[in-house]
Amino acid sequence: MKKNTLRKHILKVCFFALGLPCFVISGALAQTPLLTLDLTKPCAKVSPMLYGLMTEEINHSYDGGLYAELIRNRVFKDNPTTPEGWSLVNEGADSIASIKLIAADPDKVPFDERRHAINGALTTCLRLTVEKAGSRVGIANEGYWGIPVKPATTYTASFYMKGTGRTQPPRWPGRPQPETPVKLIEDNTAGPITVTIESNDGKTVYASGTIDLAKSTFWKKYELTLKTGADAKPTTDARFVISTNRTGLYYFNLVSLFPPTYNNRANGNRIDLTQMLKDMNPKFLRFPGGNYLEGPDFASSFPWKTTLGPIENRPGHKGSWGYRPTDGMGLLEFLMWCEEIGAEPLLGVYAGYALNGDHVDAGPLLKPYIDDALDEIEYIIGDAKTYWGAKRVADGHPEPFKLTYIEIGNEDWFDRSNSYNGRFTQFREAIEKKYPKLTCISTIADRQYPDLMVKSGKKPAVLDEHYYRSSWDMWENASQYDTYDRNESKIFVGEWATREGAPTTNMNAALGDAAWMTGMERNSDLIIMSCYAPLFVNVNTATSTAPKAWQWDSDLIGYNALTSYGSPSYYVQKMFSAYLGDEIIPMAAANIPTQIRPAAPQRPNNPNIAPAPPAAPKAVPTVFYAATKDGKTGAIYLKVVNTIGKEQAVQIKLKGDVKLSKDATLVVIKGQKPEDTNTITDPEKIVPVVSQIKGVSTSFKQKLAPYSVNIYQLQTSK
Ligand code: AHR
Repeated sequence: MKKNTLRKHILKVCFFALGLPCFVISGALAQTPLLTLDLTKPCAKVSPMLYGLMTEEINHSYDGGLYAELIRNRVFKDNPTTPEGWSLVNEGADSIASIKLIAADPDKVPFDERRHAINGALTTCLRLTVEKAGSRVGIANEGYWGIPVKPATTYTASFYMKGTGRTQPPRWPGRPQPETPVKLIEDNTAGPITVTIESNDGKTVYASGTIDLAKSTFWKKYELTLKTGADAKPTTDARFVISTNRTGLYYFNLVSLFPPTYNNRANGNRIDLTQMLKDMNPKFLRFPGGNYLEGPDFASSFPWKTTLGPIENRPGHKGSWGYRPTDGMGLLEFLMWCEEIGAEPLLGVYAGYALNGDHVDAGPLLKPYIDDALDEIEYIIGDAKTYWGAKRVADGHPEPFKLTYIEIGNEDWFDRSNSYNGRFTQFREAIEKKYPKLTCISTIADRQYPDLMVKSGKKPAVLDEHYYRSSWDMWENASQYDTYDRNESKIFVGEWATREGAPTTNMNAALGDAAWMTGMERNSDLIIMSCYAPLFVNVNTATSTAPKAWQWDSDLIGYNALTSYGSPSYYVQKMFSAYLGDEIIPMAAANIPTQIRPAAPQRPNNPNIAPAPPAAPKAVPTVFYAATKDGKTGAIYLKVVNTIGKEQAVQIKLKGDVKLSKDATLVVIKGQKPEDTNTITDPEKIVPVVSQIKGVSTSFKQKLAPYSVNIYQLQTSK
């Protein structure tokens, strides 16, 4: 059989007889793939902001994630019908006690539940009624899928509390009697109140303290620290309890518990997760979304103004992913998070489009939204003489933050009213007028949505493209930017991911990511910024009291209350960002082997998800590559990806007058099979390994391990 006929025959057997996709390496495999780094040609510059991060409140990214607060539903607004996350502790058969949400619906507060609001944000509270106190009674919080116990750790607890025997507010003569009057209970509330971190069965107390509850009908804030012993065994099988053994009515609000935070910042972030992000060396952080910026309806976009100042002023809001964010991660916290990881903020401003499809037309009705965005920018970069700059100073951050890019909205291609053209232009003109140095990013990419793109006024300087794809899609399209017109707008790949594996991605996804990143890196004169999404996922599955923690499969970093881990994709991100030069080395490739991408059922093209898969089997490369050079140190970083389960040899050639060290560094991440992955219980199954290689020359051969991403750091002398 001739070679071609043989190949067709193999294909036929695989597709039609076995019904399975198969890997068929093209005839080119016979010759070793050759990668030539051409050091004789002028190099384009790598964008200094190429690799960054994107974040939003999804999958419990902040509440139950990065934001270190441990108490779930701390202001009791998560669910208007039940005190979600809270339960009654009642240890003795002879005690009679109950808990109840008070003023759950601030628009319809029953007469006998009035006068318990602390302020306009803290309007709902929890009441513990102790009619008979045989032994310990109290309230318990289950945390975000458990309270994390760590040895020798100091936790900071705080809460508002009042104790009173009064069952109803004073009633003017003639006022209706309450429908369900509360029994008169002897008021023994004043006195010691015990606060503990303890096992869920109450048998082991990990840390304990007391406060002295004052006799008062008015709220008072109590604070204390709780310290675990050096011998405490790390666990998430724990709860936070405030308890008493006296009768009365006890009221609680804004109950908070913080472990130590990164840099010990009050109201700060989890140490392990912050460190993981810092290790990625991100150049920017795109926030606050994503869908989280927009919100499900006009009233629910990210309410940056009510996220400022003390947490007492933050009622939380509806959010976009099915649970209510506390807004503990407010605008200033986002900015300080940027500072902590050395990233520049990239601010998304709400641009008058809601996820339910509503939009505000350009013109006078849009002006308040533009003014709001200008206020927000002023908060970030204004000096103390400006209204919002002064607020930032008062909030404890005198220095303005660095800000270069403002993104106008998010994924406005969903707005089929065609209003984005006008909305973007009105925002851009107002922002540029006040802040000529800022660059506005359009969320509609010309190539993806030519019908919806911004056409009026100046061309947007930067377009945000989003890609959620399979690994096949990534491999097939990894070189898409090679052909983009350099005279057009710059590209920000503001959300992208290879979506395989759940809740975090697997090795195959990492191979898709790495191939895609070689394409971005080779074209990083055009791709000025890129960021993977989503960043975070709380990996807890549903329990009897809490739903599954995540809403989106295929995320970068997974965690529970106690520990965290990086997906193979995380390590690929980290590797690509750590080994990056500032000049793009032109490369030529020959004999690149291919594999056959099976045909798939056709569906309409959706640029947000993936290009339509091929209608007929299609050859797709199995080796991907990019190289950059550090102009100062002479280091060359060559990235080569082998996407198949077979070792592949490559010949690497450096063209030009190069003095090359014989010693080089090789960083490899690889899997045994595409589904291999890291998990919360096996967090380091797939991690990069660094080794030294010897005998490198201007033409050298390397073997790429099956399913591997390889980075060669070569040293040239200048
Ligand atoms: O990353 C998850 C979601 O995908 C983002 O919120 C949204 O922008 C996109 O559709």
